[in-house]
Amino acid sequence: MNMLTMRAGSAEYSVYVERGLLKSVPGRLKEMFPESRLAVITDDNVGSLYGQSFAAACETAGLRCDLFSVAPGEGSKSAGTFARLLSELAQHGYNRADVVAALGGGVVGDLAGFVAAVYLRGVKAVQIPTTLLAQIDSSVGGKTGINLPEGKNLAGAFHQPSAVFVDPSLLGTLSEADFADGMAELVKYALIRDAEMFEQLERFGAAPAGSDMLDSWIVRCLSIKRDIVAADEKDTGERMLLNFGHTIGHGIERLCAAKNLPMTHGRAVAIGMTAITSAAERMGLAKAGTAERIACVLHKTGLPYDISAYDKDEIWKGIVVDKKTLADKLTLVIVSEPGRAMLHRVAAADARNFL
Ligand SMILES: NC(=O)c1ccc[n+]([C@@H]2O[C@H](COP(=O)([O-])OP(=O)(O)OC[C@H]3O[C@@H](n4cnc5c(N)ncnc54)[C@H](O)[C@@H]3O)[C@@H](O)[C@H]2O)c1
Repeated sequence: MNMLTMRAGSAEYSVYVERGLLKSVPGRLKEMFPESRLAVITDDNVGSLYGQSFAAACETAGLRCDLFSVAPGEGSKSAGTFARLLSELAQHGYNRADVVAALGGGVVGDLAGFVAAVYLRGVKAVQIPTTLLAQIDSSVGGKTGINLPEGKNLAGAFHQPSAVFVDPSLLGTLSEADFADGMAELVKYALIRDAEMFEQLERFGAAPAGSDMLDSWIVRCLSIKRDIVAADEKDTGERMLLNFGHTIGHGIERLCAAKNLPMTHGRAVAIGMTAITSAAERMGLAKAGTAERIACVLHKTGLPYDISAYDKDEIWKGIVVDKKTLADKLTLVIVSEPGRAMLHRVAAADARNFL
């Protein structure tokens, strides 16, 4: 079992990582919260795979527990679903001593975390992430929230969980597409902070669910996130490094959404990481050959890397439509070589040159 201690502001909590951990979570929760009721929030996919048996195991462990399920997918990170869950907790009589457990991917984690942040002005939360992205990234660090019709993640709160339980064996049921999306974020972690992990990715490509290699990468990503969040909980400095590849990636996602082209967040970030590094090389900000190395790793892990099929003017329109980038200056993340990343402030107009 690996155990990491996360520190963010005054909050401190443990992140447990072990294959097969889910079975022991009900007993651990009973020890942590002996008098509490547990509201398990999940989605319909994860609910039928793991949620019902998890809720039954909680009852067996002596924890009073209810399962609340939402439709799978980004659409559930909405004000409507959020309000519905708050009402359901109230109708079930949940009080301030009770606990919300998020059992699912990043959508459920963000939504359930925000419910916990707001219900009765805040109740305790635990995260039980079930996608690769959620296990390496979104379940730790305390960012919670929902989307608004005007844009993604426009409402939310920082609300740190009381514990995070990562069971990598749950990744065995993940679709290939969802697994690849998580791999894109894993490659990002290697690129911003871990040259050795990047070299392993160069040698082996993606490691399958259930392998020791993947488990060790999950722990390495969580350690990087732990250090970054400890230095910058509220995302005003170093935490922005986690946005590597995301500015161009968001532009590509928007362009594809407008044209009804298939695209996922992880794939768009993969293309964005390669594109911005090519530009950084041209400007002398990155070591020659870095973009080529990134492209090779992405190719090996089954992810796209080539931006040439997409119209750059349209990607740019997708970038500036984002309200968060309307300021005069834009903070870009540049990887100068694998394992070394820096923030680079540019005038918004000059950012176009990075495409
Ligand atoms: N809070 C943060 O710091 C943070 C960081 C990065 C991303 N995010 C958010 O995360 C969200 C994306 O999360 P995601 O990629 O995990 O997507 P997701 O939660 O939509 O999960 C993807 C799909 O996998 C299914 N699924 C989940 N676990 C499964 C399992 N073990 N077996 C089979 N199917 C499973 C889900 O039902 C869903 O259909 C976005 O909303 C993004 O904004 C948040």
